[in-house]
Amino acid sequence: MKHEINVFDYANDITKAIAKGVLLNTFADGRFNTMTIGWGSLGIEWNKPIFTAYVRESRFTTQLLRRNEAFTISVPLGEYDKSVLGQAGSLTGWKIDKEKDLAITLEDAAVNGVPVIKEFPLTLECRVIYKKEQPIAEIAIEGIEQRMYPPDEPDPYAGRNNSPHTEYIGEIVAAYIIEE
Ligand SMILES: Cc1cc2nc3c(=O)[nH]c(=O)nc-3n(C[C@H](O)[C@H](O)[C@H](O)COP(=O)(O)O)c2cc1C
Repeated sequence: MKHEINVFDYANDITKAIAKGVLLNTFADGRFNTMTIGWGSLGIEWNKPIFTAYVRESRFTTQLLRRNEAFTISVPLGEYDKSVLGQAGSLTGWKIDKEKDLAITLEDAAVNGVPVIKEFPLTLECRVIYKKEQPIAEIAIEGIEQRMYPPDEPDPYAGRNNSPHTEYIGEIVAAYIIEE
């Protein structure tokens, strides 16, 4: 059962959870994927409630987002299996099928068609309404290239490599808590 919420009533829970990791789920042409994100923001633009995620070009997630511009965000509440965040944040959909290999139970979305995760019950369904790559040279933080975009990292799947982030602004089209 999905218990509808006002997403801003949960702003504190969501933003605190992001720092520890939440899940960004994607789905295109029958293929599901999830990845851990530690960057993200909840807010308002164009008078719409939005969740913005920042995804490196090299992620399998990017591949699915190109094919279907929608995502769901799954946030833990209370006790949860932290190994899921570890695996979703280190294993890539380029090599494995996380739907099968991770201890997660999928459920149909209410609105946007991207499956949601029962074990991470606070859920935001989003439709991408804007996306833009963030050129590394335009980031005004000293030493950011070496720290976050090391040009000598040969592994395209590494957490930190030289692929830039794209910001995906998602209109929140549904927000709820999954209950038994
Ligand atoms: C705690 C944590 C936070 C992360 N945050 C992000 C993020 O905000 N953006 C990003 O592109 N990758 C982030 N990552 C890395 C991806 O989750 C990781 O590279 C994952 O394997 C990508 O999966 P995919 O290739 O199946 O899309 C994070 C990893 C961890 C462990």
